[in-house]
Amino acid sequence: MDAATVRPAQSDLEQAFRRDVLGGLSRGRKAIPARWFYDRAGSELFERITALPEYYPTRTEIGILRVCAPDVARRAGEGRVVIEFGAGSATKTPLLLDRIDARAYVPIDISGAFLRDSCRTLAERFPALQIFPVEADFMHPVCLPAKVPGDHRLGFFPGSTIGNMEHEPAIGLLRAMRETLGDDGMLLIGMDRIKDPLVLEQAYDDSAGVTAQFNLNLIRRINRELDGTMPVDAFRHKAVWNAPCARIEMYLEARRDINFEVSGQHFTMDAGETIHTENSHKYDEASAGRILRAGGWEPVETYGDADGLFMVILARAASGQEG
Ligand code: AVI
Repeated sequence: MDAATVRPAQSDLEQAFRRDVLGGLSRGRKAIPARWFYDRAGSELFERITALPEYYPTRTEIGILRVCAPDVARRAGEGRVVIEFGAGSATKTPLLLDRIDARAYVPIDISGAFLRDSCRTLAERFPALQIFPVEADFMHPVCLPAKVPGDHRLGFFPGSTIGNMEHEPAIGLLRAMRETLGDDGMLLIGMDRIKDPLVLEQAYDDSAGVTAQFNLNLIRRINRELDGTMPVDAFRHKAVWNAPCARIEMYLEARRDINFEVSGQHFTMDAGETIHTENSHKYDEASAGRILRAGGWEPVETYGDADGLFMVILARAASGQEG
């Protein structure tokens, strides 16, 4: 692993967290961006979610990647620099790196501790591979270390993380990736499919309550990092399918009237009032194609599973879209 890990100033992240939480709790319809789920505890809880029987996306995507990796390698060609956006524990990465003859691997993730652990594991498994970990929020333009080769890049964005973004920011992110990955860049992206609402709601409200803990961890994080006094036991986890918007929505709902402080500011919530904490958009091939094209990408191949649960799309940079 290369020693030059790039990290944002911790105080910048803290300020952004405080701004998003105070702003989000001050709104008529309270909402906090889902990106703040992922402190160490949140990232670990998410890892547990990925192994739940109800949460089909991870195992389905892994199955698809196993099958499609040789074809992706053939289409991408040799010597690609693999850049993974939101690498997390990078469990899917070896499926690609096993097949692709990569020149270097650049994992980008907001959770530094998690990133370092996963890089150590990958470095053991691929000792000859140059790894340049970048601790950053890839939702914003990321400055890559100067040593990372500038061309022949392949972006890897698994997990349907794009689904956690609104339409316009998602397009903005795809455009930023297009810029980062360059004119001969390719992108391998996982997208979750629209399906039976019951299957979706169970995937986001599992019987073991791990997703509930993941959602409630946001309150614990606020209490810990922003001097909060939010009563964790006064909130319940809620997941609902919004058909017109084709997305699962997660909320923290107040079980009773409450008041609390965050960073010295006072807030009240009535029983039944909610904090909107996450959207998870689902796609079909048409809507996936539309969003990719709007972001400067031309789908090359769509790989899927037999049950039609999930898709992995290989796209190439569309010409004349840079900038
Ligand atoms: C990270 N992301 C793609 C997950 C999803 O399915 O939207 C986050 C998640 N939220 C609840 N369960 C999983």
